[in-house]
Amino acid sequence: MKKLGILLSGRGSNFEAIARNVQAGKIPAEIAVVISNKQDAIGLVRARELGLTTRFIPSKGKEREAFDREVVAVLKEFQVDLVCLAGFMRLLSPYFVWEFPNRILNIHPALLPAFPGEDAQRQALEHGVKFTGCTVHLVNEGMDTGPIVCQAVVPVLDDDTEATLAARILAEEHRIYSEAICLLLEDKVRFEGRRVLWKA
Ligand code: GRF
Repeated sequence: MKKLGILLSGRGSNFEAIARNVQAGKIPAEIAVVISNKQDAIGLVRARELGLTTRFIPSKGKEREAFDREVVAVLKEFQVDLVCLAGFMRLLSPYFVWEFPNRILNIHPALLPAFPGEDAQRQALEHGVKFTGCTVHLVNEGMDTGPIVCQAVVPVLDDDTEATLAARILAEEHRIYSEAICLLLEDKVRFEGRRVLWKA
């Protein structure tokens, strides 16, 4: 059985969507460990309630790589095959990225490369785009810059607020994150430069 490692810092709704799909047998893996750098992250509380193995690893005051080494050590301890960032509010060091080549996923609430970084939904509203969405991508050392695995599009409506738009995007996030996990776990994709393509 393949093993997932989940990293989160907050609400954890993407983690919960993944956990539901694992539970339902829709993702061929188990969640080996849920790690958070925030002790009071709702996602960490939910993971405990679900009976999953959790670890709180504080990041405050630590050098980026020192923290990442602690996280990687735990992921290796649990023999994690695929690392899923789910609202994990930290940039990864090159050390971390190299330890899991093409084996770290992130979800971002915009159609990358548009609107990277924080407040992607607000950026989309302010820019005036008519469509936005979400992106699951492989993680490299940059901020939301890795190769794109899956995207989903949602319309921006005239009466949208940041909250209504975020909710519409989130529903798609919950759907495509699990799809992307399956694509990688089932070895259905190949890499050609920045492009993630279906295997023939
Ligand atoms: C999501 O919008 C995700 O795209 C972004 O952070 C948010 C995390 O939400 N990276 P949740 O913690 O999964 O509910």
